[in-house]
Amino acid sequence: MRSVSTLGYMVLGVGDLAAWEAFAVNVLGLQAGARVPGESLGLRMDDYEQRILLLKNDLDDFLAAGWEFESNVALEAFVDQVRAKGVEVVEADKRVAEQRRVARLFVCEDPDGIRHEFYCAAWRANTRDAFRSSVLRGAFSTGRLGVGHFVTVPKQSAKAKVFCEDVLGLRLSDTIGGDAAPGVNLDVTFFHARAGRHHSLAIAEVPFPAHKRIHHIMVECTDPNDVGLAYDRCKQAGVPILMELGHHPNDQMFSFYLISPSGFAIEFGAGGIVVDDDTWEVKRYTELSDWGHKMNPPPGAPAHPAH
Ligand SMILES: [Fe+2]
Repeated sequence: MRSVSTLGYMVLGVGDLAAWEAFAVNVLGLQAGARVPGESLGLRMDDYEQRILLLKNDLDDFLAAGWEFESNVALEAFVDQVRAKGVEVVEADKRVAEQRRVARLFVCEDPDGIRHEFYCAAWRANTRDAFRSSVLRGAFSTGRLGVGHFVTVPKQSAKAKVFCEDVLGLRLSDTIGGDAAPGVNLDVTFFHARAGRHHSLAIAEVPFPAHKRIHHIMVECTDPNDVGLAYDRCKQAGVPILMELGHHPNDQMFSFYLISPSGFAIEFGAGGIVVDDDTWEVKRYTELSDWGHKMNPPPGAPAHPAH
């Protein structure tokens, strides 16, 4: 079965574009890219013109995942495969493809209303406009591994898992189940795309109502010192920390979780492993973190442990 290559971009609907810009640039270390005042802002992490697209939207939630293909031929073959399964896939018009900064774009929707966008040929930035972070010591870990990952909290997790495997063609990495945080029973299923980042998408089943489509998105940097430096920036700027510094046993990520201006969390990490499908063995873990990641539920925000 054909599979998406990698999670190339994410689209977030945010209520306060100005607050997000200051947060993304000064705290996360992203670079502001193309903008339409009052409507959208592109955020850069590398030589792509855009890795995260912010659209003004009072939902304050995850809107779309951009799945990358190496070529137009690979993209079309994948779209044919998805349509053959009875899923409606439409080609987006030129304006939407340009807003995403890609050459060609197809779109479908999953059972929970998240758009899945399939594209090839992401626009690269002008060489005289190389990516520069105002605060990062190293770089973001992107390239073929893509923008990062996101973790959904679907209403019908069984349907969501079928969509991941049968439509997107993602493969199971591992699961974490049981009493992963004190008194909280959860089950998280992790999926990887062809490029092999340990997970591009994970599905969290939690024993309480979810307020957003996602629990968190994750961005990864190459230098673990940048995780500590970002943690210090959060403390200094008064950005709420959902989970303190810690380490996950499955993807080996050293990270912490902060609360974005939209209320969902962002995992900021380093050290995530890459899956080689020829040798990979699916595992089941019984703890979310092997050290740290102490929960710090901020007042008024939902405290969902997930990974
Ligand atoms: Fe994560």
